[in-house]
Amino acid sequence: MNKLRVAVLFGGRSGEHDVSLMSARSVLNALDPERYEVIQIGITLDGNWLTGENTLDAFEKGNIKELDRVVPPSEPAHQSLYVVRSTKLGDKLETLSGVDVFFPVLHGPFGEDGTIQGLLELADVAYVGAGVAGSSVGMDKGIFKDVMRANGIPIVDSILVLRGEIEKDMNAVIEKVEQMGAYPFFAKPANLGSSVGISKCNSRSDLGEGLMEAARYDRRIVVERGVGNVREIEVSVLGNEHPQTSVCGEVLPSREFYSYESKYIDGTSGLLIPANLPSEISDKIREYAARAYKAIDCAGMARADFFFDNDMKKIYLNELNTLPGFTSISMYPKLWQATGLTYPQLVDRLIELAFERKAQRDHTERRRAA
Ligand SMILES: Nc1ncnc2c1ncn2[C@@H]1O[C@H](COP(=O)(O)OP(=O)(O)O)[C@@H](O)[C@H]1O
Ligand SMILES: [Mg+2]
Repeated sequence: MNKLRVAVLFGGRSGEHDVSLMSARSVLNALDPERYEVIQIGITLDGNWLTGENTLDAFEKGNIKELDRVVPPSEPAHQSLYVVRSTKLGDKLETLSGVDVFFPVLHGPFGEDGTIQGLLELADVAYVGAGVAGSSVGMDKGIFKDVMRANGIPIVDSILVLRGEIEKDMNAVIEKVEQMGAYPFFAKPANLGSSVGISKCNSRSDLGEGLMEAARYDRRIVVERGVGNVREIEVSVLGNEHPQTSVCGEVLPSREFYSYESKYIDGTSGLLIPANLPSEISDKIREYAARAYKAIDCAGMARADFFFDNDMKKIYLNELNTLPGFTSISMYPKLWQATGLTYPQLVDRLIELAFERKAQRDHTERRRAA
């Protein structure tokens, strides 16, 4: 049996570069060497594509000098990557024979937002995960909320403000936010992840600071109403047009909110699987997760994150992460494990789904037949 050649992409230009290395380590461990031949490609914080012996080791150790540059694919039908080898006579391009499927294990901007997916579409290759639109809508907290509203999926009240509006008239922005109701509010850059640039604002002066902080990271800022007595419930979704959902899990944050520190640095957030919820609530959450997934034309996988107002017993969808944390101790694979799918089975399934999606693309006529 010919092995499938899988190019695993990791690192990347976002603030979640290091998280991506952790996710990629688990994916590499799970890819069955009997079935797959793996090509490791690391993307540096500057956006350079590199490969070589044990690329991930080199990235983890920060010792990438020995690696060779890879020319990212851009033209269809090549199915090849080029490696730039330096020789005494100058750089030489060498073909890295056909890659069957790309597996981007990249979180945040330039990985989860449709940009790399656009490149892979141009190259006309199979790749794991959501396409361009699903990725970018999943990433943009402003547009995502509008799409959810249009589909009748409950989300918290929010408004979108531009950095330019904040710079021009902060007081006008604050007044507009306060029309939504009482404090607290959350100010968030529209296109980031890992809680970077997010502030909980308990007062008017907090809000001013929170808006300034979020505006450092994006020209578009989402301000939303804080959910009181909030529980954070997450569901894993898997599939293309007929997605399946996992059992619900609950994040038990130790800090005031689920911050970058508690997620990745001090590891103080605990996961409770399955979440302790009445079945009518968890069924409803799973239904919203699948509907939201279809609404943004997601594919492959996503983790749907909800807020549950424990006083009002109200469910709100917060976001869909189209490339969720993927280490073996991350919520996404752990929820599947609890639902009966092991980590290696999950990785196999994601690769199958990538081929399924590619086959559908190949069935699509690009122009009117002559
Ligand atoms: N409207 C809200 N009400 C209550 N808590 C919130 C709200 N928005 C965000 N949070 C807290 O902030 C965390 C990060 O916000 P989130 O929108 O999930 O951003 P990220 O994309 O960085 O994960 C959430 O997990 C939650 O703890
Ligand atoms: Mg989140």
